[in-house]
Parts: sequence; structure tokens; C-alpha cells
Amino acid sequence: MSPVQAIPSDVESLVLELQAHPVNTNEFFKTFKSKKLRPQQLRAFVQHYHYFCFHFVKVLEGLLYHTPIHEVEMRTELAKTLYSELGSGSPDRVHIRQLERFASVIGLLQQDLECTVPIPEVTTYLATLRRLYLDSGHLTALGAALAVETTAASEFEYFVPGLEQYEQFQPGELEFFTLHLAEEQRHGNWLVEAVRKTARSEDDLQQVAAGARETADAWLEFWAGMYRMIFDANPADAVD
Ligand SMILES: [Fe+2]
Repeated sequence: MSPVQAIPSDVESLVLELQAHPVNTNEFFKTFKSKKLRPQQLRAFVQHYHYFCFHFVKVLEGLLYHTPIHEVEMRTELAKTLYSELGSGSPDRVHIRQLERFASVIGLLQQDLECTVPIPEVTTYLATLRRLYLDSGHLTALGAALAVETTAASEFEYFVPGLEQYEQFQPGELEFFTLHLAEEQRHGNWLVEAVRKTARSEDDLQQVAAGARETADAWLEFWAGMYRMIFDANPADAVD
């Protein structure tokens, strides 16, 4: 990533910086795309990923509540993102339910998901997001949300072709993953709009950038932990 203290000239250059962050091409993504996981590995991945996705939406609800009352544009864009996560008004289309349908296809029961004890990297990442979203000021939080939604687009570009290698899945069973290919792009655009309308000075943008950079770095640690847990190896030792 470019120098940690650099001030982006505008939100577009911050987005480009986030898109160039190593988390977008991390070893877990590359391995997931290039080889099939054993059934037990796939179930372990989905359990921990589900734990994150399930709790993340609640943190997003918290951010919306903590956003200052006068920041109407930021609240509007966050509300759109939250509404989308919660199925745009349709309980059947709530994203976590879509992931749970995939979990059941690979043999995970609801009870298995409820009993997940997350790996430390998942817990740490959620704690980082809670601190940034709820306790760090709305501009830092906004940057964190921008980073979450901008970098989220990448994982699906690896997960979808990765899962298409498994002959056993019907296309409809991958809906959680295929839907997010376009969905995360939309979320990212909404957050860009929120930054544009909320960060009104260079200092504001600096605070947004600080939250964004910390989040992207923390997200990379999340995936490094996932790699270690699933592949029982260090991502730094992976051979491309
Ligand atoms: Fe989602």
C-alpha cells in the first residue's frame, strides 16, 4: 500500500488504493479459486465465514445508529447498504439466509452454524470493525465502511469460479456468491457517494483514509487466519 500517512487527493484515488491492496489477491482467494477444497475444508470455511457475515450486519446496524443526526447523506447510503443486506424487504432474500441455504447444501445444519467458535482472526476482525464503526468518529467509520464494501467485491471474483469447479452444485445453490458479484459493486458505489457528500475537507478525507487503510489491513489478517486454519499452512509459504 502507498505511504500510510499519504492524503488521497479525492475519494476516487482512495478507492484505487483500496482496490490495489494485497487483500484483494490474498493466498486464500487464489487457492480457493485454483483447487477444490475437501468437503470438511469447505464446511469449515463456510462456518467461519458465516459467523463473520452474520455478526457483521449487526455492526453495520450499529454504525447507522451512531452516525450523527445531521449526516443525512451518509445515513441514506448506509441505509441502502443495510436494506440490501437484509434482503431489500424480503426475508427470503436476506443475504445470510442465502448463505445458510448453501451451508445446508454442503451438510451444515443450522445447529452447526449456531455452535461455531470463531478462530481468533475472525473475532479480532469483528472487534476491529466494532471499534472503527462505533467508537472512532463517523469519518473514520465511513472510511472503514468504504474499505469493507470496496474490497468485498474481490472475494466473489475468486469464490464463484472456485465453486463452479465442484460438479455437485446446481447454479441456484450458489446464489449467495453469484449475487454478490454485482451487489458488492453497488454497495461500494453507495459508500463512495457517502464519502463524497460527507468528507468536506482534506482533514475529513484523511480521517476517512485512516479508517479505510486500517480496515483493509485487518481484512488481510482475517484471510491469513482463514488460510492457516483451512490449509494448515502459512500463506507466506504458499507457492504460486
Ligand atoms: Fe451481502
